[in-house]
Amino acid sequence: MGLTSVKPLSRIIAESEGGAHTLRRSLGALQLVALGIGAIIGAGLFSLTGIAAADHAGPAVVISFVLAAIGCALAGMCYSEFATMIPIAGSAYTYAYATMGELMAWVIGWDLVLEYAVGASTVAVSWSAYFVSLLKDFGIDFPQELANSPYAATPGLVNLPAILIVCVISLLLIIGIQESARVNAVIVVIKVSVVVIFILMGWGYINQQNYTPFIPENTGTFGEFGWSGVVRAAGVVFFAFIGFDAVSTAAQEAKNPQRTMPVGIIGSLLICTLLYVLFAYVLTGIVNYKEFKGSAAPVALAVDRTPYLWLNKAVKIAILAGYTSVILVMLLGQSRVFFSMSRDGLLPRLFSDIHPRFLTPWRSNLLFMVFVSLFAAFAPINVVGEMTSIGTLFAFVLVCIGVIVMRKTHPDHPRPFRTPLVPVVPLLGILANFLLMFGLGWSNWLRLLIWLAIGLVIYFSYSRYHSKLATARE
Ligand code: ALA
Repeated sequence: MGLTSVKPLSRIIAESEGGAHTLRRSLGALQLVALGIGAIIGAGLFSLTGIAAADHAGPAVVISFVLAAIGCALAGMCYSEFATMIPIAGSAYTYAYATMGELMAWVIGWDLVLEYAVGASTVAVSWSAYFVSLLKDFGIDFPQELANSPYAATPGLVNLPAILIVCVISLLLIIGIQESARVNAVIVVIKVSVVVIFILMGWGYINQQNYTPFIPENTGTFGEFGWSGVVRAAGVVFFAFIGFDAVSTAAQEAKNPQRTMPVGIIGSLLICTLLYVLFAYVLTGIVNYKEFKGSAAPVALAVDRTPYLWLNKAVKIAILAGYTSVILVMLLGQSRVFFSMSRDGLLPRLFSDIHPRFLTPWRSNLLFMVFVSLFAAFAPINVVGEMTSIGTLFAFVLVCIGVIVMRKTHPDHPRPFRTPLVPVVPLLGILANFLLMFGLGWSNWLRLLIWLAIGLVIYFSYSRYHSKLATARE
């Protein structure tokens, strides 16, 4: 059994078609773009923009958004090449299996749990905080002990609203991909409208003086303003872009993936980049960046400087809706990656059991419902939150490497979408995403390594012996 044996492309594609373990191809280009935007606009934009401006970049957080977007776009092109060549649910996991072998495939599949399952838990906890605050606006006091984990800043018993949202979304995902995509589309319209309204209404209240200096002078410490601050802030706001890659996990449910996948991945990324840059420009134009220091609700600060105070409630609803769709797409991505790993024998069969009527991997959805909601309810979420970013960046780096390898091993395989200027674009992608990883600091690297070590124990004690590829060769 070779740890480096790759799974032949022809076999991957043949296996994905037919049989009881099959997903339904029903998503069009527009739904895929909506899926991308659904996963992208969330906590990153609404909470981190202010923090990144106050602590690292000042108004130049606008440049940080562009830098993070460049890193994502480089990886996004590589994702698109793979997603059109191998339109399978497993995303980066499957691409690694076809290029770097089973062990790397396992590592990346296991790593994606950080992006999707841990990411969903993190956002569920933020969702809970806004939910409780909205209830308060309507005069309902939700008990604090039941809205905080024992490890939260204000410790409680359990985070019940976080459990609630994870359960509701998991059940929706079980009912069907079309239903999930429809709910997602409605949410996307709400959150994009509020972002656009904020930009349009806020534009008239920009005070040009807030843009001088545009890049505040470095304090002498790396990452505190100046250009190093702009780069550090790019690492922070990277979180705001996470999710466009989740579109590729729906490749097996996309109609005509050769055309719709690049549109979904790159289209959603472009739209969000444009919105983010304008949003950050208006936000730091209305309020001086220094005032965002320690502020948990930067958007409210800005709205309070305009006569449109009703926007505060609209923003809160958009945030709640926004976080809901982020959780939805992350849970979707998680179940689809484990679906592929289970079909390959690396995980137990239950992860790829398809519901006879709903045609979704329902047992997997149920299991993650329990895991993700318990994690959100009881875990020290602020500690693990940044693991989402480092896990995602690691996946991006491997996908960029994969494109270079695949061009060597399968030069003639049809590529409906070709990453331009290979190997330059993937190499720049590797570099850019590594830089962002370094920006996240040593403690996150350590957590990533511990997580991967746990994964290796599982691989060498279970997956290796159940791998269908390995069994077929014996
Ligand atoms: N991009 C997602 C967010 O900002 C993860 O919430």
